[in-house]
Amino acid sequence: MSTSQTPIIQTVGACQEYKLPRTSLFGQRPVLHALKEVDFYAMEGESVGIVGESGAGKSTLTRILVGMEKPTAGSFKFKDRDVWSSDEEFKLEFRRSVQMVLQNPRSSFDPRMTIAQSLLQPLKGLKIGGDHQARIRQVLDQVGLGKDSLKKYPYEFSGGQLQRVAIARALIPDPKILIADEPVSALDVSIQAQVLNLLNDLVKDLNLTLILITHDLSVVSYVTSRVAIMVDGKIVETGSPKSLFQNPQSAIAKSFVDSVLTVGKGIEGESLFENV
Ligand SMILES: Nc1ncnc2c1ncn2[C@@H]1O[C@H](COP(=O)(O)OP(=O)(O)OP(=O)(O)O)[C@@H](O)[C@H]1O
Ligand SMILES: [Mg+2]
Repeated sequence: MSTSQTPIIQTVGACQEYKLPRTSLFGQRPVLHALKEVDFYAMEGESVGIVGESGAGKSTLTRILVGMEKPTAGSFKFKDRDVWSSDEEFKLEFRRSVQMVLQNPRSSFDPRMTIAQSLLQPLKGLKIGGDHQARIRQVLDQVGLGKDSLKKYPYEFSGGQLQRVAIARALIPDPKILIADEPVSALDVSIQAQVLNLLNDLVKDLNLTLILITHDLSVVSYVTSRVAIMVDGKIVETGSPKSLFQNPQSAIAKSFVDSVLTVGKGIEGESLFENV
């Protein structure tokens, strides 16, 4: 198979079980099945969304996709190689290639470090050579920030600007895949579109693969071309945002879409999700 037909990242039958605290003195520890045989993939250059209710397993899947957790069953592959059984050299390539943007930029930066120090960390941690200062200036430019940001501390930025810095930090190791877990839900509505436009532009300009996790169907429709709906630890349906949200096939997907659209109705009774 040529690389263009092979997913760049993929889980096959991935399960994740968490042992919960014992409920009685002599009983077994109960097990929570957070992921149940999940087949998920993204092709190189593709933007894929994952939507689902709270507790559906989206962040758990994300932790598997960035290599933070090993699935309790099934496999996890990057470039068609099993990540957990690969050698250290491939693991380092994987860790450079898959980067994450989290929901809340305030809690993802060390408040005592300047932006320059925060951006230097991944270059050192991932053993990346070359001119570090030039690379830092380049990524700041790519996210629309000037080099005057370098001496500043996180508290000196607005939420939207700090999320740009978080995106810059993710871009530093020149990744192939960006995984964004609710990247705009902590931001003011007025700046959400700016950050989403930035992500869209970066995906095109740098030929990135984007995996976007969100509760918000309008966000996922705006940014991605294929979406997976997760319910109770499983992917229940996948398709283009338009077909999936207007015409879900399974009853379980329809019930999810209906519940989100009901919550999303504006006070006038009009849907807030006009572009769905
Ligand atoms: N480390 C853990 N130990 C025990 N249970 C966990 C752990 N991490 C997640 N869970 C449970 O696994 C299930 C899936 O959680 P997960 O955080 O993946 O959901 P989510 O879809 O990201 O939800 P949200 O939209 O609220 O972020 C939940 O029932 C959660 O309580
Ligand atoms: Mg989550």
